Amino acid sequence: MSHQLLISGYDIAEAAVRLDRAHPADIVAEALDRFPGLSISFSGAEDAVLIDMAQRAVGPDGFRVFSLDTGRLHGETLAYIETVRERYGITIEAFSPQAEAVEALVREKGLFSFRRDGHGECCGIRKVEPLARALEGVAAFATGQRKDQSPGTRAELPVVQHDGMRVKFNPLANFRSQQVWDYIQTYGVPYNPLHDRGFKSIGCEPCTRATHPGEHERAGRWWWEEATQKECGLHAINLGEA
Ligand code: ADX
Ligand code: SF4
Repeated sequence: MSHQLLISGYDIAEAAVRLDRAHPADIVAEALDRFPGLSISFSGAEDAVLIDMAQRAVGPDGFRVFSLDTGRLHGETLAYIETVRERYGITIEAFSPQAEAVEALVREKGLFSFRRDGHGECCGIRKVEPLARALEGVAAFATGQRKDQSPGTRAELPVVQHDGMRVKFNPLANFRSQQVWDYIQTYGVPYNPLHDRGFKSIGCEPCTRATHPGEHERAGRWWWEEATQKECGLHAINLGEA
């Protein structure tokens, strides 16, 4: 939910209303115009769509891409990140977790503590802390979140919101899954090969499973937890915690 707030002179509440029905490519274009060098948070197909839109708008040097390499991603996802890097001729900044924090967690609680304790602690070390470093000094960034990805947590997702003192653009918020895949097919955007093996929403390997036909895409993430808690902390604002 957006509040009346100006960040770098940008009126987020006004923009959220004005852009709510805009095409994602136009939202990306406005974000790049108002925040040159916009950061794009990249991990999957939706984010590659944002990269494709940004590339068309300003070329490969007009935006910044970063990815959180948790150390638990599928080999296919790592290969996919490389495919996107080569395809668009861009730098992808990889942020790894702090080695000491991972070592302490694994030493004390083992490699699968999230199954017993919930995913918060592990995601905090492997995703949230690296995200904070990736966003140091950044005024605005973009994510590939969509409302229909997660009815339990993203149903009210605005196309632009504040996240702390940053502007967070979610240009695909109102796109349905099929519209994302139409874009991918129309423009030949690379996608993670796991999608062809029944994976719809892809995170870390031990916390992601393929979904059955008819199952919601989010069912394959942290399937041992409640649907209303299926946010890793990157988007804690969706749980009303940020
Ligand atoms: S998560 O919070 O459940 O992990 P999800 O997989 O739905 O997020 O992805 C939503 C958006 O969060 C992506 O479009 C991307 O912008 C960002 N994101 C998720 N995981 C990563 C990651 N490992 N690195 C960078 N961005 C990520
Ligand atoms: Fe850890 Fe799973 Fe979160 Fe990845 S998704 S950081 S493995 S709890």
